[in-house]
Amino acid sequence: MTQPQDPPLRAVLVAGTINTDLVARVEKAPEAGETVTGSAFSIFGGGKGANQAIAAARSGAPTVMLGALGDDDFGRERRADLDAEGIDTASVARRDETPSGVALIVVEEATGQNRIAYVPGATRTIAPDQARDAVMRVKPAVILATLEPPEDALDALFAAGTTIGAVSILNATPEAVGARPFLDRIDALIVNETEAADLLGHPVSVANGETAARALSRLGPNTVAVTLGAAGVAISHDGETTSFPAPRVEVIDTTGAGDAFCGAFAADLARGADPFTAARTGVIAGSLATTIPGAYPGIPRRDAIERKLSES
Ligand code: RIB
Repeated sequence: MTQPQDPPLRAVLVAGTINTDLVARVEKAPEAGETVTGSAFSIFGGGKGANQAIAAARSGAPTVMLGALGDDDFGRERRADLDAEGIDTASVARRDETPSGVALIVVEEATGQNRIAYVPGATRTIAPDQARDAVMRVKPAVILATLEPPEDALDALFAAGTTIGAVSILNATPEAVGARPFLDRIDALIVNETEAADLLGHPVSVANGETAARALSRLGPNTVAVTLGAAGVAISHDGETTSFPAPRVEVIDTTGAGDAFCGAFAADLARGADPFTAARTGVIAGSLATTIPGAYPGIPRRDAIERKLSES
């Protein structure tokens, strides 16, 4: 007798950094040459890639991480964090010669705004073969990548994604100009105001967010989301453009808010939602992420997102 087949799992594959965040809370971030006294120090799991993978997993998507860690305590801790979230870490390489990624973060008490310097370490050793193998092993419905892995690995990742018909999303961060070689081969682009400005060559703000999304779409991607912090998101898809405001929340720490948007957005696309619905979900996820200190701790689960969606 033939058994009924399980429906294929619509997985999200996330490529990017896995960092350990060393975070100081301060009244006011220091200027060049200035030293300020902080009020608290914490160590959190972080890294844009890992934050996005956790966001996708907490949004209910089967999630796979593509990355690399050093053979060190930070690396072992972060791998354990991802495993504990149920994320597939079989495509996270362990490197003997290169340390795990680390970010130094200063968060201002009053605004929750951060300043970040990070050293990707092992993330820069992600190899093209590793990327290709991950795609062919998992056959994800959605591929979500930052610009943190090397360009040749991203190139192999998106090429493999095309062969299996995966939806490709590029979060053009941290340095958006690195997105240029990929703009005409990705389905969706996610940028914040600064990254949008870097790609367009003029300032982008809430006032021209929708215009910027349309202009970026003309560079290639059929879907463009410009995240606008507390103002939400402007999204252009298939020639239609709209905005979704963010709910008002008490902002404690903005670290990982953009990543929460990306992961929740990708998880929604993987379950078949349209990009407008996914962007609305992403805005709620990003807002909720700002209400709790630290990257991993702040990323909301699907039930919290749905509760907030039903209130708005
Ligand atoms: O987007 C936030 C992340 O950026 C932090 O978790 C930190 O690791 C930096 O890379």
